[in-house]
Amino acid sequence: MRLLIGVSGGIAAYKALETARLAVRAGHAVRVMQTPTSMRFVGKASFAAITGAPVLSSEFEQDPARGAYPGEPVPDRAPISHLALVERADVYLVAPASANTIAKLAAGAADNLVTTAALAASCPVVVAPAMNNRMYAHPATQGNLRTLEAHGVEVIPPGEGELASYGERGVGRLPEPEALLSVCETIAAHRRPAAGPAQDLAGVRVLVTAGGTREPIDSVRYIGNRSSGRMGLALAAAARARGAEVTLILANVSLPVPEGVRVVRVETANQLAAACAEEFPGCEVLLMAAAVADFRPSAPVEHKLKKTGPDAPNKVELEPTEDVLSVLADRRRPGQVLIGFAAEHGSGAAALGREKLERKRLDAIVVNDISRADIGFDAEENEVLIIARDGLQRHIPRAAKRAVAAEVLNQAQRLREPAQ
Ligand code: CTP
Repeated sequence: MRLLIGVSGGIAAYKALETARLAVRAGHAVRVMQTPTSMRFVGKASFAAITGAPVLSSEFEQDPARGAYPGEPVPDRAPISHLALVERADVYLVAPASANTIAKLAAGAADNLVTTAALAASCPVVVAPAMNNRMYAHPATQGNLRTLEAHGVEVIPPGEGELASYGERGVGRLPEPEALLSVCETIAAHRRPAAGPAQDLAGVRVLVTAGGTREPIDSVRYIGNRSSGRMGLALAAAARARGAEVTLILANVSLPVPEGVRVVRVETANQLAAACAEEFPGCEVLLMAAAVADFRPSAPVEHKLKKTGPDAPNKVELEPTEDVLSVLADRRRPGQVLIGFAAEHGSGAAALGREKLERKRLDAIVVNDISRADIGFDAEENEVLIIARDGLQRHIPRAAKRAVAAEVLNQAQRLREPAQ
């Protein structure tokens, strides 16, 4: 399991260290976040050494592991949110949970990374209180714990015995690390899958193209473009999550591919055209997000060109490639929905998009303005205008590409409906 441990202030922080050690030993991937106070008891370096991963203590600090748990590849881009760790956790254990942290959790406060993560968690949250027995018995603390339970938080009651202050005994001891880990393991094992998105595309075959083609000049050089494939990957992931059977034609994409998706890899516009010709008849929805070269070198050479000597080029002759989308539109059968993507510059983008929609005989076109550096190419976010053949025009303000993907799929579904 991916176990996220939030450590708050208290002598018992050393038990969180031991819990982390046991969890790592049992094969779990563990990340740790600390409140500033907890660092007075156990330092970040101890948790980092035991988990083999950086420890975070502030919402404003970059995670060097970019949201990855130990054993996972570190993504090549940092997540936008400082909540990536809790978003991906199977269980979030707050241990020890001090009286102060419990009060904040009950009130829904988010004043440090540990409390913020609890508020944002969609995974089960387990809270293990540890404090002096009078603090634990106080009606305020008891009330806060009941509130947390009412919010669906699993509270592991503290044990009775010797407390941190010399000679004191009572209820307030953090349970032993074995017990904490075992509760987390049981919860992770029985965790019901989240309700997840509606399966409104169940059984629908969706073909997505993503990335950018490369047209060889010689054996090592090519004409390419800046498309990273992120938008297409987001579309594939969103369609899959809604139950679609997804085939993803990837042109030179090095990012990880969503699970459960069939992948066909291509490099050139020609190969992409051939793969589309093969896959298109079997799909109901085509999402053509790939950036396809419009021209290719007409005589690519098989060896590497030298910069001097007889074959030193002073120009590269180009010839047009096939307009893949137009060819597919010609071959469409009733009920197939074709959505194109257009990268346009500046204020005329909408008109140019509409013209492309007509010319390529599409059902909808997703237009993005590439004059902006903060969105679009190789960015996590996009801002688009979706124009449909029936006149609907929807502006999606700047949002994560997965949110844009969700709206593109909504439109695909809407355009499919009359044919069903
Ligand atoms: N497209 C395609 N085959 C090509 C070029 C583009 O299938 N040879 C598809 C793209 O995947 C995209 C849509 O057509 O979905 C629009 O691409 P774009 O490059 O904006 O359109 P072009 O027809 O190439 O027009 P422009 O002159 O603006 O480049």
